[in-house]
Amino acid sequence: MSQEEGFLGSTQASRCPSDSRSRGRLGLVVTGVVGGSLIALYAVAAPFVAPALRKVCLPFVPATTAQVENVLKALRARSGTLVDIGSGDGRIVIAAAKHGFQASGFELNPWLVWYSRYKAWREGVHCSTSFHISDLWKVSFAQYSNVVIFGVPQMMDQLELKLARELPSTAKVVACRFPFPTWVPERTAGEGIDTVWVYNAGTFKSNLQQEMTKSTLKRDYSLDEDT
Ligand SMILES: C[S@@+](CC[C@H](N)C(=O)[O-])C[C@H]1O[C@@H](n2cnc3c(N)ncnc32)[C@H](O)[C@@H]1O
Repeated sequence: MSQEEGFLGSTQASRCPSDSRSRGRLGLVVTGVVGGSLIALYAVAAPFVAPALRKVCLPFVPATTAQVENVLKALRARSGTLVDIGSGDGRIVIAAAKHGFQASGFELNPWLVWYSRYKAWREGVHCSTSFHISDLWKVSFAQYSNVVIFGVPQMMDQLELKLARELPSTAKVVACRFPFPTWVPERTAGEGIDTVWVYNAGTFKSNLQQEMTKSTLKRDYSLDEDT
């Protein structure tokens, strides 16, 4: 062995054990930090991305200030309970509570629900608001006399049926940006993307009743003809 080889060999032998231990520790810390950050990023982002992966894609798009004003204008003569279906960051619920409604929001995204609760508390309306982490298709809206929805066209026909079955005849429904496909609005407020359509539950419920009676009669009549 040359003198140089001997020198290198002894230096490496003296460095290696502690070097590899500290490199190992650093590796663990880096893996932990990267892994933790990825998990945190996933936990925050997943609830925002999840609606896009559902059968009906209803992403978080907050109402504009003009839209919120139009909703309040449309419900000016009303009072009592109000629900915003898919309440996002709670802006419609909080604005409604400030106008005297007992207002609730149903929202799939837990981060948005916690943020809404915090905002309601900060703005002093936590007593007249409630926010629920729920799937809109799995809850009943029967107890609400004012209903607000900022949905997407793909869900409106299914929602028409659900609301027509559940709501009392005295309820009003306000649709933001996209109207219901078959209901006839009693009036509208605003214009362009901020338009809201106001529907009277008494009207759409009696129309649904008539449709059901007609189809029952048709079915019975065709049965009679067959026999
Ligand atoms: C277009 S945003 C409207 C937000 C709020 N209403 C507003 O006007 O500012 C629709 C909201 O519905 C929520 N959402 C989507 N699918 C849902 C479901 N199945 N049940 C409850 N909320 C849902 C989304 O997370 C999103 O926050």
